[in-house]
Amino acid sequence: MDAPLAIDVSGLNKHFGNRHVVKNLALQVREGEIFGFLGPNGSGKTTSIRLLCGLLTPDNGQGMCLGLDVIKDSARIKPQVGYMTQRFSLWDDLSIEENLDFVARMFGVTDRRQTVTHTLEELGLTSRRRQLAGALSGGWKQRLALASCLLHRPKLLLLDEPTAGVDPKARRDFWEEIHRLSASGVTVLVSTHYMDEAERCHRLAYISYGQLLASGTAEEVVSSLHLNTWEISGHKLHGLAGKLRQLPGIEMVASFGATLHVSGRNAELLQDILERTLAGSGLHMRPIPPSLEDAFIHLMQDDQDQYGSPPGNSPPPRRSCEGGGNRLDSRLRGNDGRYGE
Ligand SMILES: Nc1ncnc2c1ncn2[C@@H]1O[C@H](COP(=O)(O)OP(=O)(O)O)[C@@H](O)[C@H]1O
Ligand SMILES: [Mg+2]
Repeated sequence: MDAPLAIDVSGLNKHFGNRHVVKNLALQVREGEIFGFLGPNGSGKTTSIRLLCGLLTPDNGQGMCLGLDVIKDSARIKPQVGYMTQRFSLWDDLSIEENLDFVARMFGVTDRRQTVTHTLEELGLTSRRRQLAGALSGGWKQRLALASCLLHRPKLLLLDEPTAGVDPKARRDFWEEIHRLSASGVTVLVSTHYMDEAERCHRLAYISYGQLLASGTAEEVVSSLHLNTWEISGHKLHGLAGKLRQLPGIEMVASFGATLHVSGRNAELLQDILERTLAGSGLHMRPIPPSLEDAFIHLMQDDQDQYGSPPGNSPPPRRSCEGGGNRLDSRLRGNDGRYGE
């Protein structure tokens, strides 16, 4: 039997001035689940997270979080939620232990000393407990931030891009921790730009311009897009991507290592156009099942950094993107590699 729902909201809307930032958000997250929240910068992830934990009040909408009404009971939801903000927000000039002690006081944790000691142990921070937070590397800072969210034993963790800028080893360790928490019954909603992290979630949602475009398990998200994908390999791939993007039936072209992935929804048209284009070129093509990464690159084609989006948030013209790394937003940068933030 499915676990009960920790989050069950629908029709949530939020405007900032005349900017409609969250549009009819409907989200269901099960107890103990790790739910991934993906989408470009400015698409409304942080705002949605703040609506769920009661830090922001939606303009309208309804739903429950931890069995409590998100609108009427926000004051009772907050103490049961651990919210890790997108930016490190603890005190640089306090040690790890002092930070945790201070946060435990703020939360009114009764067995404070014991809880801090236990949390230090649990997160492998004991040997570093006297180090100043400001002197820690990104990975240890994030671990400290996670520890501080756990002191009051929350039932729901909201982690807003917790591993941005953290090295791969520390990211892997961090995810082990998230899975450990999930296994102990804590529900985790986590926003991320990393594809490998998306794949570690039980279920996912992709948000763009405040609107949920896809959600479900990785397999459900992939199959809901009805993509057909071909892998093209061989020498002289250079320049091919640009040419393919101009052709009908080809909706997505992306480099994956030494190959290209080419996708489209019209299977016959796609195959026909590829066969004709590659005839006599010496290049090979073979059908492959679309991956989650193919699906997200496809979804992102209409996206760019959305912080600068005009009031009304009309999507920009369709655009292709190319890239082989696993950081989703690397594909959203302009030619100069800059974000619009
Ligand atoms: N407090 C605020 N006041 C006005 N606009 C805001 C505020 N917070 C966020 N926004 C705008 O709302 C949009 C969504 O932002 P955000 O939820 O932070 O997106 P994400 O977390 O996906 O990057 C952006 O256009 C952002 O500029
Ligand atoms: Mg954000």
